[in-house]
Amino acid sequence: MVGSESGEFQHVSVMPEAAIAGLNLQPGGLYLDATVGGGGHSDRILAAQPEVQVVAIDQDEQAIAAAQARLAGYGDRVQFWRGNFADYQPGEMRFHGILADLGVSSPQFDTPERGFSFRHEADLDMRMDQRQAVTAATIINHWDETDLANTFYTYGEERLSRRIARAIVEQRPFHTTTELAAAIARCVPGSYRHGRIHPATRVFQALRIAVNGELTVLETLLQRAPDWLVPGGRLVIISFHSLEDRMVKQHFRNDDRLRVITKKPQVATEAEVAENVRSRSAKLRVAERIGGENPDPEIRDRKKSAAYLRGGKSSSQR
Ligand SMILES: C[S@@+](CC[C@H](N)C(=O)[O-])C[C@H]1O[C@@H](n2cnc3c(N)ncnc32)[C@H](O)[C@@H]1O
Repeated sequence: MVGSESGEFQHVSVMPEAAIAGLNLQPGGLYLDATVGGGGHSDRILAAQPEVQVVAIDQDEQAIAAAQARLAGYGDRVQFWRGNFADYQPGEMRFHGILADLGVSSPQFDTPERGFSFRHEADLDMRMDQRQAVTAATIINHWDETDLANTFYTYGEERLSRRIARAIVEQRPFHTTTELAAAIARCVPGSYRHGRIHPATRVFQALRIAVNGELTVLETLLQRAPDWLVPGGRLVIISFHSLEDRMVKQHFRNDDRLRVITKKPQVATEAEVAENVRSRSAKLRVAERIGGENPDPEIRDRKKSAAYLRGGKSSSQR
C-alpha cells in the first residue's frame, strides 16, 4: 500500500498553523481542500470549528482512500472528489476558503512503485493520477532532445540539461528509475557526481513537474479559484518550488479580484524544519477575495444592524 511497511499513509502536514490562520475559519464555513493528500490539513480545519464543512480533492486514488479513512469520523461534513483541481467545477457552491498544498506527498515519493524516486528501482512512472496515460517513461523515451533539455533546464534548473538530454536520447529506451539515474550520473563530470545532491535530483524533479503538468494546473487553479470564493474568502497556497511561488505571487498581485494578505511568503519555523524536512522549501501565501459583504453571516448581520442603528440604513443602501 502506501508510504510505509505497515501500509499507513504517513505524511506530516506542512505549516498547519499558518495554513489554518491564513484560512481565517468562519463558523459554519465551507472550505475546499484542493490537495487533501493524507487529510492532515482537512482534519485540522474540521476539528477547529464544529460546523465547518470541507470538500476534499485529490487526483491520487491512494490519497483519497487514506483521507477518507482518516476523516471518516466527520461523517457528511466532508465530501470527496477524485480528480485534478484544474478540472474541478463547484457549480453554485462558494467557499469561505480554499487551500492548495502543492506537489507530492511523502507516501507518493516514498512508495517505490510510484517511480518518483531514483533511490528505489521501479518503472519510470511519476503519475499522481494513476489513470493518466503519460508517464515519465513516455517523456524520457519519446520526447525530442531539445524538449527534454528545455524541460530539465526550466523545471529542474539543471545547468547540464543539454548534455544530459543528449546522453538520454543516445542511450534510450529506459525502463526504470535506477537505470535512468545511473545514465545521468555517468554523463556528468566527476565534481558533479560527488556534489551535495545526487546528479539525477534536478532531472527527476523536472520530470515529475512535466508528467503531472504541475505549472499548467496551478495556472488554471489561480485563474479559477478566486471566482469560487465568497467575498472575504481566503485563498491559501503552499508551494515548494521557486517557479510555483513566483506564479502565485504574481497572480495574487495582479488579480483585481484579490487582496494580498501576505506581502512576503510565510516559511516554516526552524523547529518545524528540524522535525519535517519537507517543510524546508515551503512558501505559504494568502490572498482574500475582494468585494461584497463579510462572509460570516453573524458578523455581516451585526454590521448591518450597527449601520442601521447609526444612520437608519444598511451600508449597502447608502
Ligand atoms: C503535499 S500533498 C498534500 C498533503 C495534505 N495537505 C496533508 O496535510 O495531508 C499534495 C497532494 O495533492 C495532490 N495533488 C497535487 N496536485 C494535484 C492536482 N493538480 N489535483 C488534485 N490533486 C493534486 C497529490 O496527489 C497529493 O496527494
